[in-house]
Amino acid sequence: MDTTAERWKAEYACKGIPSSFRSEPSQIVLDFAQFLERKELNARRILDIGCGKGRNGAYLASLGHQVTGIDLVEDNIAALKERAAKLGLNVSGIAHDISKGFPFPDASFDCAIDIFCYKHQVEQETRNLYKRELLRILKPGGLFLLSLASVEDGFYGPLLKDSPRPDQKLIIDPFTGIASILFTQADIETAFAPELVLEFSENRTSESPMHGKIYPRSVLSFILRSDAKK
Ligand SMILES: C[S@@+](CC[C@H](N)C(=O)[O-])C[C@H]1O[C@@H](n2cnc3c(N)ncnc32)[C@H](O)[C@@H]1O
Repeated sequence: MDTTAERWKAEYACKGIPSSFRSEPSQIVLDFAQFLERKELNARRILDIGCGKGRNGAYLASLGHQVTGIDLVEDNIAALKERAAKLGLNVSGIAHDISKGFPFPDASFDCAIDIFCYKHQVEQETRNLYKRELLRILKPGGLFLLSLASVEDGFYGPLLKDSPRPDQKLIIDPFTGIASILFTQADIETAFAPELVLEFSENRTSESPMHGKIYPRSVLSFILRSDAKK
């Protein structure tokens, strides 16, 4: 059976996209760590949604934060735990499909980060549940860092011409069969408003390899703050 988890497992094995072959944290996570430091938000409880093998969570834990990673792929959680044990870091992990909800108590995190996982939640219903669950597990005033490919991305954007659902900006990576939704800045601001308020956004362009070839990339990132009353 070719499930989404199996497609992800195959992608990590063939190392086509940066999160599969990079062990250093994303630049936006380095920036987010500085943002927390400037605001003197030390030793936070942080949820890493779609944590992969933990390159971002391990970095945040190395700064003194208490990190929980969640990912569909059991091998990723095993890799995350192994890395944390080797480095003596305060990281826990759980293998779980977030389209079934977030398995944590209410108001249990100060922050959540999502580096290229939300974009793979291709059903509107799943994204609605994601938002409800995010608001539930964040403490009031909690922060959410979200990073994803924009519609203008040089690898994903051109795939829109073969989209099975162009009105939803759904694309399928032809190398892996993994589906994504492409977003604009306005799409994200609307999707998370009014309960999450925008604190910061950027559109970062760079050149980076995807499936063995260099593409001009366009990545949107957001820091949103939960305004929901608990
Ligand atoms: C592009 S990778 C990014 C990994 C990590 N955030 C990083 O930057 O290295 C997306 C990750 O999201 C996970 N993922 C996708 N859909 C998921 C779901 N429904 N539930 C949990 N994890 C999911 C995948 O297994 C994969 O590890």
